[in-house]
Amino acid sequence: MTQWQTDSWKNFTIKHLPDYPDQKHLDEVEKTLNNFPPLVFAGEVRSLKRALADVTEGNGFLLQGGDCAESFSEFHADNIRDTFRVILQMAVVLTSGANMPVVKVGRMAGQFAKPRSSPTETIDGVELPSYTGDIINDINFDPDKRQPNPDRMLKAYSQAASTLNLLRAFADGGYADLRHVQSWNMGFVKSGPQGERYRHLADQIQESLNFMEALGIHSTNTPQLRRVKYFTSHEALLLPYEEALTRIDSTSGNIYNTSAHFVWIGDRTRFLDSAHVEFCRGIKNPIGIKCGPTMKPDELIELLDILNPGDETGRITLITRFGNDKIGSYLPNLIRKVQEEGRTVIWSSDPMHGNTIKSGNGIKTRPFDRILDEVKKNIEIHKSEGSRMGGIHLEMTGQNVTECTGGSDDVTEADLTDRYRTHCDPRLNANQAIELAFLIADELKQNGH
Ligand code: PEP
Ligand code: CO
Repeated sequence: MTQWQTDSWKNFTIKHLPDYPDQKHLDEVEKTLNNFPPLVFAGEVRSLKRALADVTEGNGFLLQGGDCAESFSEFHADNIRDTFRVILQMAVVLTSGANMPVVKVGRMAGQFAKPRSSPTETIDGVELPSYTGDIINDINFDPDKRQPNPDRMLKAYSQAASTLNLLRAFADGGYADLRHVQSWNMGFVKSGPQGERYRHLADQIQESLNFMEALGIHSTNTPQLRRVKYFTSHEALLLPYEEALTRIDSTSGNIYNTSAHFVWIGDRTRFLDSAHVEFCRGIKNPIGIKCGPTMKPDELIELLDILNPGDETGRITLITRFGNDKIGSYLPNLIRKVQEEGRTVIWSSDPMHGNTIKSGNGIKTRPFDRILDEVKKNIEIHKSEGSRMGGIHLEMTGQNVTECTGGSDDVTEADLTDRYRTHCDPRLNANQAIELAFLIADELKQNGH
């Protein structure tokens, strides 16, 4: 293997990166970004890797979720707070279902760049570059705005920095108190039409808290009950941005991508010889690899050889996304191969990306039942292969949007146009996300997780 450098990815096959019209402008922006402070610290990244090592060993569960694509226009403190809040609510429910700590990782503070199936979009005979995320170009169908502009990276950095600042304040400042989170969950159980189904689990959590308080353990004397560890993640797609934020950590001498704690390689860029794989090889962060139907078992092992040659625990999360109708044909072979080769990974389920359909009125959506079905099948397949689903990866928001159909509020296809706000793929809304957490918790309990 050739020597890794922050820019050695340029010698590999580059896909899904924008053609910036002005190289000099790009160079200047990269230089500016390179002088900006890191967004996360290496010590935090190491702490996440330790937590993920516990997940790998069966002593934790990974919850990863957030927007498909963050946007400049939806940037608001309330949106950040609401998504953070729903993730905390889900984490409490899943902690009780899995009976183990839940590692909380947002798709936030950097999830801006999108790989698209087609590089261009044609409307009424006019062909323009596709929208590839606010960090690259503008969603408006206008020839100037669709040109990739490097200055957008600076805006994305600034938004990521403010988002992280608020998240850190929420995580540390009392907002994450377990009592509050539990009372929000009790509110959810009451308001939902099918609330009874979830009451039992919520009551159990409540009883545990009451018991702890009777023993004198509460948030005023036990910081763990009022603070949470919360990490950030995104797809490491826009390599000029990722490279500019990659630094040598002065305490360990190791190289970290400081744009997020955890980054993943998308299903379209995780091929052998990919620039994205080369870039991720050299950074110490935990890495996710999306695995869709085209991932071959042998290819997966070769990728693990490149990305985790020492089989370090906590380094690799395989995020599988097949679709509820396809998972049975693909997942078992990947699990068997990884077992045969004795590799250490977390298996996480992304039940979103294989279950996207066009609704009758032509809008992209995802039926709640198919999402749940893929997760259930994922849990069962792992169980019958003597393996374990150790995490879940969701596109979701704390807002009351209407983007995915179904759930107990029964969003119908006709409702989709009411509050369809995503800049890319359809997300679960707050109620759908919490409901899914209750159903997964139930499933994990039944499977003796
Ligand atoms: C995503 O997670 O937003 C995404 C594009 O997923 P995938 O690479 O699995 O298609
Ligand atoms: Co998506």
